[in-house]
Formats: sequence, C-alpha cells, structure tokens
Amino acid sequence: MSNPSEAELIHMFKGIAFTTRSSPELLKSLDTFDAREDDVLLVSYPKSGTHWLAGVITKLYSTQVTLTSPIEFGDISKLEELNKLSSKRIIPTHLNYNMLPLNFKKKKCKMIYISRNPKDIAVSMYHYYRDNPNLPTIDTWTAFFDLFLRGDVVCGSWFDHFLSWEEHENDKNILFLFYEDMKKDLPKIVKEISLFLGLNISDNDIQDICKKSSFSEMKSDTEKKNSDPSHTVCALTSNRKLIFRKGAVGDWKNHFTPKQNRRFEEVFNEKMKLSKM
Ligand code: A3P
Repeated sequence: MSNPSEAELIHMFKGIAFTTRSSPELLKSLDTFDAREDDVLLVSYPKSGTHWLAGVITKLYSTQVTLTSPIEFGDISKLEELNKLSSKRIIPTHLNYNMLPLNFKKKKCKMIYISRNPKDIAVSMYHYYRDNPNLPTIDTWTAFFDLFLRGDVVCGSWFDHFLSWEEHENDKNILFLFYEDMKKDLPKIVKEISLFLGLNISDNDIQDICKKSSFSEMKSDTEKKNSDPSHTVCALTSNRKLIFRKGAVGDWKNHFTPKQNRRFEEVFNEKMKLSKM
C-alpha cells in the first residue's frame, strides 16, 4: 500500500479495515439504526457464499422483499434509505457480532450466518483483491496469504469474525450454515432455511430454486442483468465475474504450498482452540 491514493481506499474503524465505501459517519451511527422485527440479516465474512445465499433466500419468498446492499456500505444517508423501504428487508452484512447494530439484537431479528473453509475464503479473496480497483493492490499470493493470516484485510481477521458469531450459535434467532454443506446437498439446506424463516415451500419449488441457484445459472443470470453495485450484496464492484469466479470446494489446494498449509493449520489450531469447528 505504498501508493498514497491506494492508502486512501482503506480506513480503520474499531481496529478493523473498511473500504472508504463504508463511511466512518455511517459506521459510527449504526447503533441508531431502527431494525424491524421482520428484517432478515444475511451475515458472512466476505467470500463465504453471500451472493449464493442471497440468491436462494430471495427466491423463497412469494411476497415482495428487498435485498439491500450491506448495511455498512455507503454514507450516512444509508440508514434513511433503508428506513424508507416499505417491503420486507433482507439485509446483508459483513460486520462481526460486536459491531452489529444493537436493535437487530434487541428485536431478535432472524439472522443467517454462512461460513466456509477459511482456506478457500483466502484464495477467493485474493482473486477478488487482485482484480478489484477499489481494493489495495496485491502483488503476489504469498503477500496476500500473510495479510489474510494477520487479519490485515477488509473486514479484519476471519478468525475473529467467525468466533464472534460462533459464540451465538445457540441463539434461537441465528441459523448457522456452511458453504460446503450447500455444495453437498443444496435441497436439504434450502429446506432448512425455509423452515427457519417460517416459509412453507413445496419440494417441487425447492428443486426449482436449487436449479436456479446453481453456479452457472447465477453467473449467467447476473451477467445478463448487469446490476447496479450500490444495490447488490457486493457494493465494491460492478464486475460480476469477480463474484462468480469458480464456485468450488478445495481450490486452496491449487494455491497453498505445503509450508503455507502447515502455517495456516498452526494459526488455525491456535486461534480456534476454543471453537467447536
Ligand atoms: P470463489 O471465488 O471461490 O469462486 P461472496 O458472495 O460471499 O462474495 O462469495 C463469493 C464466492 O462464492 C465465490 O467463490 C463464488 O464463486 C462463490 N459462489 C457464488 N455463487 C455461487 C453458487 N451459486 N454456487 C457456488 N458457489 C458460488
């Protein structure tokens, strides 16, 4: 980040790196946000499968719902903009549990947390950084690997993010999902999501939703729509190819050296010693 204009892409808030697309004023005022009991939060660390989950959830509703951009993206006018929405809101966020606006917790809004093997997240994020002019330049995979392990990337440390949410895994209003489980048996997970959201979806509809949510369908669908980035799950790029990249489990094996893998495991075991993962 030697180039000063690059340094301006990122700012720190409560020890976590945010892009300047998340204004400090907005971040400071998040606790004043007026949550509604029927809001559904879609929570993730970046590159965990947020778009995939959003695609599934929006297809589950037969009534009108609005998928917003992440609550932490934008300037101070964001809260007002969300207030004005009259339909049910599906709100993505990459915030850790401690930074989540208080009202979502008080009102016990339903929240779905999607997680993924952090090794695959690191690789996915590397490609995302590399091809995204809104993020600092990354020279090599080796350099990014170190940044990721240190938590020196947007949204901070994966470990801290996951642990902050895992503490709440038994909260009745929070559903935990894994990307790998969605890859293995999507209909089963879609059923689980629909039950959690209190929606009655027939098996036929579930099959149909799964078909429309496959990687290839979602990729070509988004390319056709060419959606406005300020109103989608990812507000950092209009290049949808960056979001629907490979959609595979285990791509880390094509990037990690054996030494990097050992190092990752060491850090993982240390940081996650109290985790059930
Ligand atoms: P890869 O970069 O490994 O391909 P997010 O939406 O949280 O930014 O996550 C993006 C990751 O989810 C990307 O991973 C992307 O390809 C993958 N993804 C998006 N839609 C998917 C789908 N329908 N099926 C499987 N993976 C999907």
